[in-house]
Amino acid sequence: MANKAPLRITVIGTGYLGATHAAAMAELGFDVLGLDISAEKVALLERGETPMYEPGLEELLRKHVAGHEGSSGRLRFTTSYEEVGEFGDVHFVCVNTPQKHGEYACDMSYVDSAIDALAVHLHRPALVVGKSTVPVGSAARLAARLAELAPVGEEAELAWNPEFLREGFAVQDTLHPDRIVVGVRSERAEQQLREVYAKPLAEGSPFVVTDFPTSELVKTSANSFLATKISFINAMAEVCEAADGDVAKLAEAIGYDDRIGKKFLRSGIGFGGGCLPKDIRAFMARAGELGASEALTFLREVDSINMRRRAHMVELTRQALGGTLLGTRIGVLGATFKPDSDDVRDSPALNVAGQLHLQGAQVTVYDPKGMENARAIFPTLGYAPSAVEAVRGADVVLHLTEWREFQQLDPAVLGEAVAVRRLLDGRNTLDPALWRKENWTFRALGRPTA
Ligand code: UDX
Repeated sequence: MANKAPLRITVIGTGYLGATHAAAMAELGFDVLGLDISAEKVALLERGETPMYEPGLEELLRKHVAGHEGSSGRLRFTTSYEEVGEFGDVHFVCVNTPQKHGEYACDMSYVDSAIDALAVHLHRPALVVGKSTVPVGSAARLAARLAELAPVGEEAELAWNPEFLREGFAVQDTLHPDRIVVGVRSERAEQQLREVYAKPLAEGSPFVVTDFPTSELVKTSANSFLATKISFINAMAEVCEAADGDVAKLAEAIGYDDRIGKKFLRSGIGFGGGCLPKDIRAFMARAGELGASEALTFLREVDSINMRRRAHMVELTRQALGGTLLGTRIGVLGATFKPDSDDVRDSPALNVAGQLHLQGAQVTVYDPKGMENARAIFPTLGYAPSAVEAVRGADVVLHLTEWREFQQLDPAVLGEAVAVRRLLDGRNTLDPALWRKENWTFRALGRPTA
């Protein structure tokens, strides 16, 4: 159709995924209405602020949120589903799907209530697009629910469009996705999504069109593959330690084979965060429900290799301190689950720091962005305003999150602050030669001791 009005977009749920998606849609030129059930969050976003640290996101919000000087005015927020139903042609559902308390399975209650709340306000044809990570089979169930509750009936259509953004690169990953995957049931849904993503498609992002179950599985299998890659190299680190090998060299050498690739082969204390751990567990739980649990039993091993890393780091620290943690002082560099984020959810770094503290060590932590969140979870740990202050008087220093700032630390300066020049690298990103030159006893996971 020529000259038809541009699509109007809504984004339901303005957490990590939703806030980024809403700002990115405005950047792509659309009028966007974001919804959150929390009035506080809406007020924060309207001020151009975010509840989490994500490079470039606040700038992008201020560029588009109505009311900011010089903004495009294309982005607004609300708490009203009625307004969202009236406004939008395409509604993106971006609410979270956490792990259920005490179970592996995924908690679908936020997605379910978002669909229910939206559906009753759909009085004209609309496309509802799920982006949340969900158990396979959810889209088919939600499509039926949508058509049943919406006043327009079958004209309220569902599509699934998984999101692959990485924390720390969320804006970049959303504006320039390395692929766009859509699960659709009609030509119309596909065309509308091509219209939404016209810019990245013109830049060359591949567009994969498939059915509902495959689109849901793409996300969980991609995360399972990444988790497996990390646990694979961490298993090799265990073997290297037993055989006096060097896992960093091993990863470099196998990574030159482009069938293997060098990315996600950095050994250390393992993966954490709000996605990989819970996604592999939810995937196992869902496979069990489908009668395919055998296919994913290897993920149990991936999970336990990963969790073993944390315990191993604690044991190495105990060994380095002559067999006991009691009364020792430990300086910890890093609290977030990865750099360029303030996210401490299931963070291996904070988990290790916590275990050491609970076993009698005096632990002081420094993290460039994660201090506030870490303190909220672990108020009994010590916190220092800089790396040098965190290691002051320490019997051992632990490097647990691979912030660039830590790679630039001066071993001579830190050496003046500590009680003993002893460092354990839990992320394999520090240069052993540099530290050893300044007379540090340097030990890294899966690498030779000297
Ligand atoms: C992940 C997926 O990468 C992303 O595509 C998906 O949408 C959400 O889940 P994220 O949680 O941001 O993204 O983290 P990611 O960059 O994948 O890192 C996960 C964890 O693995 C971090 O704790 C990181 O430190 C660790 N990691 C990563 C390693 O231990 N070794 C590596 O080689 C790479």
